Order: sequence, then structure tokens, then C-alpha cells
Amino acid sequence: MRIRVLGSSAGGGFPQWNCNCPNCDGLRRGTLKVSARTQSSIAVSVNEADWLLVNASPDVLTQIRATPALQPARAIRDSGIAAVLLMDAQIDHVTGLLMLRERQTPLPLLATPEVFSDISAGFPITKILSHYCGVNTHDLPIDGSTVDVPGMPGLQVQTVALSSKPPPYSPFRGNPRPGDNIGLLLRNPATGQRAFYAPGLAEVTPALIELMSVCSAVLVDGTFWTNDEMQRLGLSTKAALDMGHLPQSGHGGMIEQLDRLPAGVRKILIHINNTNPMLVEDSDERAELTAHGIEVAHDGMDITF
Ligand code: MLT
Ligand code: MN
Ligand code: ZN
Repeated sequence: MRIRVLGSSAGGGFPQWNCNCPNCDGLRRGTLKVSARTQSSIAVSVNEADWLLVNASPDVLTQIRATPALQPARAIRDSGIAAVLLMDAQIDHVTGLLMLRERQTPLPLLATPEVFSDISAGFPITKILSHYCGVNTHDLPIDGSTVDVPGMPGLQVQTVALSSKPPPYSPFRGNPRPGDNIGLLLRNPATGQRAFYAPGLAEVTPALIELMSVCSAVLVDGTFWTNDEMQRLGLSTKAALDMGHLPQSGHGGMIEQLDRLPAGVRKILIHINNTNPMLVEDSDERAELTAHGIEVAHDGMDITF
């Protein structure tokens, strides 16, 4: 089973169009050891032919062009994307749905009822798409039950309700509901091995540690290095945790959480904001991660399990 990281950046991408933070500026000037990243998405396949697109990034067309496996060319109009699954209703995870409107059949779309409520009202993508290809909606349960993915025989997924935040446009931004943000547990039917994906994660509970401990690989929230990263740069008044993202460093941070996992678990940070110093490959922050056995996702990264 394969996970292909299509986009490893958080909302805005890297570099972000209007940003001159040290990272974005250093990338443009060529003065930093960094590489550009597109916005948050992965693709998952059991058979290398049919893919589950997890999140539809605003950069989805660029990501498809960069990933020949997603265009198998079996017919005059075709795509390797069999279905789309959403982790939340954030702009960086759902806007790409509009770019898939030329499909000739309704797009199979898996999400929680909470996410469907946001993308049919505040940002009414499913309503807009009904005038194009349309979507076949499949409600994702968050009770731990296993779900088959339409059009992808052999792929079974489980979702976990996570503590994070619905998008700023959601009426529930200040009052999150279980189901606004989920983590995704993927199981390889051939080997029984698992992988866990959670690009938006504000709190790592003991139950989550237990779940991640039985995985071969975990891909988790790598948005911010410090809680006040955006504030210190004068880019936002919000702390990382206010935005639903647990910072990597500090007491109780993601590094400390990942240290609790068994040695055999591959630990990968994903959904990385352009301000995050760990993007710089020869930074102290990157060296610290390496010392903890933690990897930083990049576009095109392949994870097999
Ligand atoms: C988030 O996860 O907080 C988003 O990346 C924010 C955004 O899309 O603007
Ligand atoms: Mn995001
Ligand atoms: Zn920046």
C-alpha cells in the first residue's frame, strides 16, 4: 500500500504569494536550503491504479501534473482518482474539489456530516458542483467503525474524531463539534499494517498515542514550531493552538508526543506552515527532529506499508 504526499504545506503553500517571512523570502532569493511545497493533500492506493485523494487542495491540478500515476489514460477522459476523502472543511483541503468539476460522473466524496454541513452552507461547494459533475456523498462515521471506499476494493479506512478547529468561516469555529476534524487510519489488507494521517491536530490524547503506537507510519500536524510563531513574526494575533495546531517544540509539544511512540513507528510531520523553521534543511530545528527520529514531509514523498 502506498501513500504519496501530494502537498506537504499548510494553507498558503510555500512560498506563500504575499509572504516575506524569512523562509518565503529566503526561498525566493535562493539564500536558504529549502524547497517549495504545495498545499495539504495525500493520495492513497492499494493497487497503484486507483487512488483515494485525501483532501482536495487548491493546488490539486499542479499536484496531478506532478504525479503521472494519477493519470492512467485508460480512456479519452480518465483519472486515477477514484474518490475524495476530506479531513476537515478548511479552504486548503476542500477548494480543489471545484477543479475536479469536469468529471463525467458524480465524484464519490467521503466526509463527516459536520464537514458536509460546512461545505454545503458557509462555502457551498457541493451545491456549486451539483451544476457540474455533482458529488455522491458518503457520510464518514467517527465511532471507530470501518468504512469501504467506493471504487477502491480492498481499501478500508477508519476515522477518529480529533481535537482541532473547524475553518474560520464555519459557524462552529468557536465551538468545535466532534467530526469537524478527523484523523484517518489506513490498513493494508495484505499485511495488516497501518498508517495514521492527521494534518490538523491540537491535542494528542492517550487514546491517540495507543492508536499511533500500532502503526507503521504516522503523518501528523507539523504546522508550527512554536505556539507564538505567527505572533512573533507579526503575521497574526493568533497562537498555533488557537488555530487548532499543536506546536512541535516545548513542553507537551508534538516532538514530546512522538517520543512516546515505539521505535518502529515512522514519524513524519506534514501540513507545514511556511513560517516553520524546520523547513530549513540545515537548521538547528531540523537537526533536533533528526535526533528524535522524526522526518519532515516533502511533496512527492512516498510511504509504503
Ligand atoms: C489551517 O489548517 O489552519 C489552515 O491551513 C488555515 C488556512 O487554510 O488558511
Ligand atoms: Mn490547513
Ligand atoms: Zn512565509
